[in-house]
Order: sequence, then C-alpha cells, then structure tokens
Amino acid sequence: MRNILVTNALPYANGPIHMGHLLGYIQADIWVRAMRAMGHNVTYVCADDAHGTAIMLRAEANGITPEQQIANVQKEHIRDFDGFGVHFDHYDSTNSDENKARSEEIYIKNREAGNIAIRPVTQLFDPEKGMFLSDRFIKGTCPKCKAEDQYGDSCEVCGTTYNATELLNPRSTLSGATPVEKSSDHYFFKLPNFSEYLQKWTRDEGRLPLSIANKLDEWFDAGLADWDISRDAPYFGFEIPDTPNKYFYVWVDAPIGYMSSFENYIKTKRPELNFDDYWKKDSKNEVYHFIGKDIVYFHALFWPAMLEGANYRTPTGLFVNGFLTVNGQKMSKSRGTFIKAETYLQHLNPEYLRYYFASKLSDKVEDSDLNLDDFVQKVNSDLVGKVVNIASRCAKFINTKFDNKLSSECAEPELVQSFINAGDSIAKAYESREFSTAIREIMALADRANQYIDEKKPWALAKVEGEEQQVHDVCSVGINLFRQLAVYLAPVLPALAKQVQDFLKLESFDFASRKQILVAHEIAQFEPLMQRVDSKAVAAMVEASKDSLAAPAPAKAEKKKEKKAEKKTEPKIGEAEVIGIEDFLKVDLRVAKVVEAATVEGSDKLLQLTLDAGEAETRNVFSGIRSSYAPEDLKDKLVVLVANLAPRKMRFGVSNGMVLAAGNGEGIFIISPDSGAKPGDKVS
Ligand code: 2FM
Ligand code: ZN
Repeated sequence: MRNILVTNALPYANGPIHMGHLLGYIQADIWVRAMRAMGHNVTYVCADDAHGTAIMLRAEANGITPEQQIANVQKEHIRDFDGFGVHFDHYDSTNSDENKARSEEIYIKNREAGNIAIRPVTQLFDPEKGMFLSDRFIKGTCPKCKAEDQYGDSCEVCGTTYNATELLNPRSTLSGATPVEKSSDHYFFKLPNFSEYLQKWTRDEGRLPLSIANKLDEWFDAGLADWDISRDAPYFGFEIPDTPNKYFYVWVDAPIGYMSSFENYIKTKRPELNFDDYWKKDSKNEVYHFIGKDIVYFHALFWPAMLEGANYRTPTGLFVNGFLTVNGQKMSKSRGTFIKAETYLQHLNPEYLRYYFASKLSDKVEDSDLNLDDFVQKVNSDLVGKVVNIASRCAKFINTKFDNKLSSECAEPELVQSFINAGDSIAKAYESREFSTAIREIMALADRANQYIDEKKPWALAKVEGEEQQVHDVCSVGINLFRQLAVYLAPVLPALAKQVQDFLKLESFDFASRKQILVAHEIAQFEPLMQRVDSKAVAAMVEASKDSLAAPAPAKAEKKKEKKAEKKTEPKIGEAEVIGIEDFLKVDLRVAKVVEAATVEGSDKLLQLTLDAGEAETRNVFSGIRSSYAPEDLKDKLVVLVANLAPRKMRFGVSNGMVLAAGNGEGIFIISPDSGAKPGDKVS
C-alpha cells in the first residue's frame, strides 16, 4: 500500500468554477478514487487561492471586505466541486493562520540560507489609488509604433515588448490617473542558486511529463532570474516577516497552501496522521500536484526551489493537463460555451461530464475538446446504450421470476473470469492516468457483454416452457458482467457506482472485490440507473450561458494577448465583458465613403477599401465582405468606420480601421448611413 497526498491547483477566490477548471479537478478525483480502489492510502486536499491584487480589487468592486469576498466564493467553490463528485478530504483557504505560519517559516529558512536578496525597483505608481501598478493596470501609447491603448508590457500592434515606464502617455486603468515613477525595495528569491538542483530535479524519473521537461530546458538555457516575491501595500496577503507594509506575492503562499491545507486536515479530521511523514525531506510517502500547463513554471521551478531551500521534501511528480476548448474553440460567453459549473448542474447530470472527460484524458499534456454533439452521442451510446442496458435487460427477470436471487452456479465461468482478468490492465491504465485507454477497454467489455445477451436472448427464452434455468443462468451471468463493468467505471462514475453497489447489495466495490463471482446472491429491486442525455437540456445550458452583451470571439491580436495573459503571474481581473457607457464611448465610430474597392490577390474573403474618412483623411481597410459584395457595388457607398481601432498588420498590408457590417451566417450586410451623412460625421 502506498501513502499518497494529492492536490489540485488552488482556484482563485474571485470567480466561479467553470468547465475549463473542471477538467483538471475531475481528472485528479478519478485518479484518487482509482488509486483508493486499488487499495492505496490517498489523501486529497485543496483550498482557495485567496490572496493578491485581483481579489482585493474584486472585493472593492463588490463593496465588501476581501475576507467576505473569499468566504462567499469558497462556499460556491465547495458547492460546485461537491456537485461534480470532486470529493476532497479537506478544502481550505490560503488565508489561514497555518498558511501564514508555514509561509513565514519557509521564507525565514530561505533567508537564513542566503536565498533572499533586497534591492530597489522603480515602478509606475498610481498617485490617486496610492498603489503600484502591475503591467496589466497600465495602458498607453507604444513607444515604437505609437499605437494607442497598449498594455504595460507589450504592444499588440507591432509586437514590441518594453517596460511599462517606457510607454508614452501612460495611464492607470484603475483610476485613469497618470502614473508616476516611484522606487521601493523589493524582496527577491534567488532562483539561480537552484539552477543546478532544478536541472537535475526536472529530469528525475517520473517527476514531469517529458514534453514539459524539454520546455523547461529552454528556460534553463536562457538562464534563471531572481524572482520578485514582494508586493507593497495595499495588498491582500501576508506581511513579510520583519518587513512592515510589504507582502508576499500571492504565488509565494499559494503552493504553501498545499501543505497548510493538509496540516488543517490533520488538525481537524485525522489527528492520527503525521505532517512530517509526508513533508520531511526524506519522506517515502508520495506527493502529487495536478496542475494546468499554464502554471508549470511556478510548480517546476519556484516551488521545488523554495521547498529545497527550506529543507522540505519536493513533490514526487507533477501531473499536467492541457486546456479545454468547447466545440473546438476557446470558451466564449457570446457563444454560450463559457459554461459555469453551476449552470451545467442546473441542466445536466455531472456524471455525463466525468465520463466524457475520462474518455478524452491521457497522461499527455494535450488540450481536450468538449464537443457538445459528440458529448451527447458518446454518453448516450456508451453509458445508456451499452452499460446500463445490460442491467436493465437482465435485472427484471431476476427480480420478477427468481425472487431476486442469482443462479447458484455460474454458467459461464470463463467469460466472467475474462472480465475479471481484464481488470488488471484497466487498473494499470488508471494508475498511469491513461483514462481514455481504460474507458476503451471497459467499453470493449460492455460490447462483449451485450453480444452475449443478444446471442442468448433471455426475453425469448422466457417465453419457452422448460427454459427457466437457462433464463436464470443467462441473466445471472449478465448481472455478473455488469458488476465488473460498474466496478471498473466506479472511479469515473461514483454516483452510478453507488447505486449499482446498493442494487447488488455488495459491501465493497474496490478492485479486489470483483474477483468474487456472485452466485446464489441476492440483489435488490432494479431502479433505472441513468437517463439519456437530452440535447434540449444541452441547448438550454448553452442558452443560459450566453451573455448577449459579451464581446464576440476574440480576433487574432486579442488571442495573442490572452496567450500572454496566461503566462502572467496573476489572473486578469474578472472576465469584464459587460461594458459601461464610458467604454463604449472609447470607440470612435465615423461615417466614411468608399472611394475605391478592389479584390485582394491571394484572398477569397477580403476586399481592399480605400475610404474617405473626412477631414481629408484616407484610410486603407481590408474587409472580409467579398462573399457578399463585388467591388463595383461599393463605389461611393457610405459606411461606418471604427476609426480608432489599432492598425492591424496583415499579409496583404496594414488595415487601418474596420467597416461595420451585420451577418447572419448567410450573408454580410454593410451598415450604411442614409444619404445626407458626410464622411467624418460622428456615429453614436
Ligand atoms: O492559476 C491559478 O488559478 C492559481 N490560483 C493556481 C494556484 S496553484 C497553487 F500553487 F496554489
Ligand atoms: Zn507598437
């Protein structure tokens, strides 16, 4: 028996759990359940990641204290995980006394070991808000191409990266004030002290997926840099010891939350467990973190280095999952595919999703797609059509004709034994997180079970006098086969498994229990186990997830920005897609007149428009309207131009603005002011 501690990435306490999160949580929960079913001793903990500027500002926007904010969100997170059967032994918060004490201890040990440096850093400061601004709270004009409205780290138009202090006309996105440069002392964790250690650590057997270890080599080659671990007040977090008004950056105490959640689990629920047995340096117990690929940097570099510097053990392994797309695209509020856990639960059975994710997941760091049509089809055909069907075909005979009792001898010992034997390979697949392989093998067994029942036709035999024993035997074999399948699916479908366990009146449903064939065994009355997925419920869920005010799918430049944001160390503030009038007024809409329109060589979608934008200004705009307009239709047409859109470099040249058009999938219709409007007129 192995002693294993498993964690999931700690979700931020400023937003709801959604489908993207659930991929990693369901993956970990399945693994935990499977390992327990194989007889291992697994502890599974998590917590809310409660600190940082984003949470502080979200609380401020909600008019509550950060403590109230994190308490409210924690309740919702626990409710949602529970709803999906993600069953942590303990769910804590990083804003706990234990986490504070542990963070201080780890920091002090590193300080004593010479791993902390202090030096001044000059940053932009918002004099109105009285706080330093991270790059994403600053916008201004690109110092290189002069594009306006660029974030503090890089320009989306020309791709230049720069320091926020180099932006022209910078402004704080929090208050609108012009930031000033200000210097303050920052505390750094000397990551380069661990270069050699980490290079070896990341290559240790089983530590990381190979693709990730290779990626990390690029970082080692580029050279590791000191890590800025302090933030000046105001900040919601833990004050750094002996350093008033400076706080640990959220990513310092976040992973320490893995330890403190475990510590609180012991304190509150399992006093017989010993913290050191899991965390002291030479511990033989195993620790695994399930994380998304966007936070590898923190878990594979900073985290083991901090632990090593404080003389703790490091994780045995990191299990890394990719991102989730829905219907092949990034989740989108306007398309209704940004589906919150809560919304899903209002419409669909959580086990459908657990099954669908399991059928997609492997040990590779690959993105997964939740294709909603495929989801309906797969769940209905596999779970309802194949698995549950076996029980419903056999149970009614046992219940009605044989007094709820299975045959006293197994009529097909070899067949049942082959199902039992298949469990070894299924267990192996679970253990190595090859869930899609496990599901494939289980479904192949389900096909064989159905084939057996189809061949024997108990419903036909039941009509023939003198064949009662045959009916009894066949249905008893069917129930035995079904039991094997239910045991194998139990880590994925815990609620279904519980129902089956009750129906079969079995004390244990772990993997070893399957080896005992059920003969002369009494079962309970069969109750329907699972309904088909109703596509109308899926459509209703998508509809309920639609935010009609949300921005449409992001354009390329926007996607690039999001990619960059993923790499950032803190989340974007919320998913602010409802805009106020002040945001709308930022869009400069003007009447323009088409002076010339031409096809674009190499593109069957675009037309090149030369526009008179008023005040003697001519604009070149590439517009994707070729399918609906011939160039000659457009000459002298009045259009609405988005005049302050950042210029976009395309293969064919630079597009300087955008022409508004409506589209219904069947045609494109340019929005055109009535005659009388003049180029340059404002549209509002
Ligand atoms: O990326 C995130 O959502 C972080 N809140 C994950 C933290 S994991 C751990 F280190 F705490
Ligand atoms: Zn630029």
